[in-house]
Amino acid sequence: MRLATPTGFATEVFVLEKPDRDLLPEGPWTLLGDQCLRASWLAAGMPEPEHALWVSVPEEEKRLGTLVPWLEHWAKAPFHRDLTVVALGGGVLSDMAGLAAALYLRGVTWQVWPTTLLAMADASLGGKTGADLASGKNLVGAFHAPKRLVACPAFLDSLPARHLENGRWELIKTALIQGEQAWAKEMLQPGPVQFAWVEKALAYKAGVVHRDPREAGERRLLNLGHTLGHALEAASEYRLLHGEAVGLGLLAACFLSEAQGAKPFPPAFLKALARRLAPLAPLVAPWSSCLPLLSRDKKAKQVSGAAGAGACEIICILPRPGEPAVQRPLAPQQWEASHARLLTMLHQETARA
Ligand SMILES: NC(=O)c1ccc[n+]([C@@H]2O[C@H](COP(=O)([O-])OP(=O)(O)OC[C@H]3O[C@@H](n4cnc5c(N)ncnc54)[C@H](O)[C@@H]3O)[C@@H](O)[C@H]2O)c1
Repeated sequence: MRLATPTGFATEVFVLEKPDRDLLPEGPWTLLGDQCLRASWLAAGMPEPEHALWVSVPEEEKRLGTLVPWLEHWAKAPFHRDLTVVALGGGVLSDMAGLAAALYLRGVTWQVWPTTLLAMADASLGGKTGADLASGKNLVGAFHAPKRLVACPAFLDSLPARHLENGRWELIKTALIQGEQAWAKEMLQPGPVQFAWVEKALAYKAGVVHRDPREAGERRLLNLGHTLGHALEAASEYRLLHGEAVGLGLLAACFLSEAQGAKPFPPAFLKALARRLAPLAPLVAPWSSCLPLLSRDKKAKQVSGAAGAGACEIICILPRPGEPAVQRPLAPQQWEASHARLLTMLHQETARA
């Protein structure tokens, strides 16, 4: 099924139970796939073009150096400007493949076939491609939207449970941005991920990205859970997965929103969040490790005046029960009490379990 997206949207979005070769490019194309998907790709009757590359790209290798051999390989083939790169893998591979497609011959077309829940629900849509630098994650990249996105739940059959849970947090984030608490509550229940949730998240993100492709306004809302989340992820030395860190950041953002004067979330809802997050408590870094990371956040801006030299603010996204989330510039220190409340609640839920 092709999802309805806004007229003129750069990416055609398909959600199919199984991969379909008819959705592969018609002209010259090559495949850049995660090697752990090779067997299931071939078993599904999908073709392996000449010069296909099967790679393994762990997060630690999400570096510019990793993609240079891919570019050399394409140039040696040789592929020309009419090439379409088909990326098959999780968010690391698709971020890197998209960046390689943006760089090769100053930009060739690409398709993305996401294979993790996180990539299906979030990373593969929106045109952000990137790689990490020693100073931080995703500090280099390009906006280069894939021409086509094909999400097939069949790929999730082999995905480890931890990665399914990881992707679920990006879905819960989407519900909270829109104030759809009942949907968020449904996704917090035990039970398998419904693919209708992914379709709903993709449709929502397509609308936001179409209205604000360069994150000048509305698109910032997609960063809900990411401000403290990124700091927790880095402070854990990436032992926390991206989606897990976002989940922790979501609960903390609920607390911060209340501290900033919004109506509190119902205690049962906060508990449901904390119960699902409680196993991550040992990976939550102390506030003293998070504060310097928050101050160095990509989205932090220096402010002058009463706050003093060197003070900074970050546009924080605050969820509200039953209402869309709002943006608020806040000093990093404002997160301290929410971080403390997060830890307390996680420990309470751990003790109760
Ligand atoms: N571009 C964006 O807008 C955006 C948004 C969110 C996250 N991201 C990026 O996404 C990355 C995280 O992506 P991720 O969570 O998909 O992790 P990942 O790409 O590292 O994949 C997780 C693991 O699962 C394996 N894998 C992939 N598909 C599989 C399958 N179907 N069966 C079994 N194993 C499979 C991978 O080899 C890897 O070991 C981060 O680098 C983050 O920065 C990008």
